[in-house]
Amino acid sequence: MRKTFLLIMLSVLLVFKAMADEGMWIPMLIGKNIADMQRLGFKLTAEDLYSINKSSLKDAIVQFGGGCTGELISAEGLLITNHHCGYPEIQSHSTVDNNLLANGFWATTRADELPNPGLKVRFLVRMDDVTNLVLKNVTPSMAEKERQKLIQEVAYSLIDSAKKEGVGYEAIVRPFYSGNQYFMFVYQVFEDVRLVGAPPESIGKFGGDTDNWVWPRHTGDFSLFRIYADKNNNPAPYSPGNVPFKPKKFLKISTKGVKEGDFTLVYGFPGRTQQYITSHAVNLLINQSNPHKIQLRDARLSIFNRFMNANDTIAIKYAAKHARVANAWKKWIGETMGLNRLNAVGKKQELESMFAAWAASKPDLKEQYGWLLPKFAAFYNELAPLSLVVDYRNEAVYGVELLSFASRFERLLSMVFDANADRGKLKEQSDNLQEYVRDFFKDFELAVDKEVFASMMQAYYERVPREYQPDFLQRLTEQQGNWRKLAGQIYSQTVFADSVRVLTLLHDLDSTNAKEFINDPIFSIYSEFEGFYRRNVQKRYFEITDSLEILYRYYVDGLMRMQPDKRFFPDANSTLRIAYGKVGGFSPRDGVVYNFYTTIDGIYEKSLQRDVPDYVPPKRLMELYQAKDFGPYAVNGTLPVAFIATNHTTGGNSGSPVLDAEGNLIGVNFDRCWESTMSDVMFDPNYCRNITLDIRYVLFIIDRFAGANHLLSEMVLVQ
Ligand code: ARG
Ligand code: GLU
Repeated sequence: MRKTFLLIMLSVLLVFKAMADEGMWIPMLIGKNIADMQRLGFKLTAEDLYSINKSSLKDAIVQFGGGCTGELISAEGLLITNHHCGYPEIQSHSTVDNNLLANGFWATTRADELPNPGLKVRFLVRMDDVTNLVLKNVTPSMAEKERQKLIQEVAYSLIDSAKKEGVGYEAIVRPFYSGNQYFMFVYQVFEDVRLVGAPPESIGKFGGDTDNWVWPRHTGDFSLFRIYADKNNNPAPYSPGNVPFKPKKFLKISTKGVKEGDFTLVYGFPGRTQQYITSHAVNLLINQSNPHKIQLRDARLSIFNRFMNANDTIAIKYAAKHARVANAWKKWIGETMGLNRLNAVGKKQELESMFAAWAASKPDLKEQYGWLLPKFAAFYNELAPLSLVVDYRNEAVYGVELLSFASRFERLLSMVFDANADRGKLKEQSDNLQEYVRDFFKDFELAVDKEVFASMMQAYYERVPREYQPDFLQRLTEQQGNWRKLAGQIYSQTVFADSVRVLTLLHDLDSTNAKEFINDPIFSIYSEFEGFYRRNVQKRYFEITDSLEILYRYYVDGLMRMQPDKRFFPDANSTLRIAYGKVGGFSPRDGVVYNFYTTIDGIYEKSLQRDVPDYVPPKRLMELYQAKDFGPYAVNGTLPVAFIATNHTTGGNSGSPVLDAEGNLIGVNFDRCWESTMSDVMFDPNYCRNITLDIRYVLFIIDRFAGANHLLSEMVLVQ
């Protein structure tokens, strides 16, 4: 027993040794990694990255909107993020006559900078390890509900007092390491954030969905914003009288460029990873969940494509929807492939054998951890069919636009029949819904959705086991047998297809009008699915996932005890993290080697493929290219565009600063290579690469392409 345990331990240690670039580290604790970082070439100290006593690099970084990162690049509040992160704002200022998406936008004076109601940026003021406070009264034998209640009570009181510390302060307490530790994050939130500049989409989104997740890449994926503050440099709601915010720290920009092997650091807000899930979970992911979801999106995307290719109006209407559906679809395909290639299930099983052997090696360990793995197996077994239903609910049912549209009416309709409902609230909800309805129909095409409906209902019927199907589906198909014919009938009868009628009914929403919605075939189908799900799936599904969360708390704790010398990083949870690695290419498959950088030559090359609409650069860019007018940003007669490195990143890291060994900005993170997308579950330094927009391409676009030199003069460039 002991001997096999040691042997397994040894082989696992060897695997860990190879994973030097893995990890998204906690800024406050980065001191533990600093020797490793310096060995890779980093020249700064832990205090330079994160300090609460003096200004540090963290003060130049913001969480941008809900799900991106941005960084300050001037003393006057100028901020850079990705074009795809600023997309909703750029779009919201666009009209047919003044299309900022198509033409780009460069504010020539401060007065031209465009306000964006609803857009917020968050600076991390500080983080505190509050584990001991939060778990103070928690005991091991305590019921889970009681435990959570105690944790929340302390968290709320900590948050309450932290919020009072400064203007625009917000705080949150987040679990780390599956609830074994807790940290509080205190943010200062600014809400007057104005659009300053963006290249045209033909640069900012060059390559579009064709190149999304793919290397070699040539996307000029950046946009510029400015944070405004009140006269005291404090957050304030938008006001014309606000002034540019003076940050504690902004990033200097290095135009030196990168070489293979150079140290790089990504400082941003990664959203979610699942590094510690068991083999059962990986198995469920790659052998059930991903394949089904991919298949459903294949069907949906091929319908979109057919209509978009045939009709230009539909092509515009469905562009953003197509991009959204395709983004995760492509990632899941890459993730499944990568986890299979890594034999992730096998590797996890090895770790689990080692864990089981370790847990069996002493009586007290056996009591604490010996029961875990069989429990995981049992729970995941029971979860599998329920999780299939959840996937079909999200992808097939809600993938039908009219069904997810109908779901928006549920609450309001139930209020109409609730005698106790507040009439003011009802009116407010109905007004909101009317606005939503108008928006919805702008980008809706009945013919497309009718086909999606037929395809999704058929998929549900054919691939979800009978016992998890609402009865009506069976009844429907017995009557019809032909999904397209059925879709045709339903879509010709439903009131949800008629925007004018929907708005009229909503406008005077009495019980008669509400009944028209409730008896509608689309609303009925939505209710059948949802009713079935709530009665037969939801409760048990959440009981199991909640139980699994508890198991993971023990499991991750056990893993950390089993490997006391291994540095564990907590899963991403939308909090500020540091990833570091090295610039370098890789070989994605046999016979293919990827260089570590791309240049404008590749934009020209791609533009020669005339049948790809994603590959049409602006004429002016190609003129500059032909004239080799690259300003001071040229290297060996060409212009760098993007590079790849081994930093461990995920969704949310978009817009993150990519720093060199001195802490200067060398690029903006915007994507990951397709072959690396399994890194949310398992990292592999041989394949995992983040994609960074080279800052010299950004400077070139602002300078030579846009002539916005007033913006350059705000920045500090170093050689
Ligand atoms: N794949 C990147 C990310 O995960 C970029 C997505 C936006 N770009 C696009 N072509 N859809 O968010
Ligand atoms: N494009 C992603 C984002 O919007 C980053 C790519 C990734 O998942 O690594 O955050």
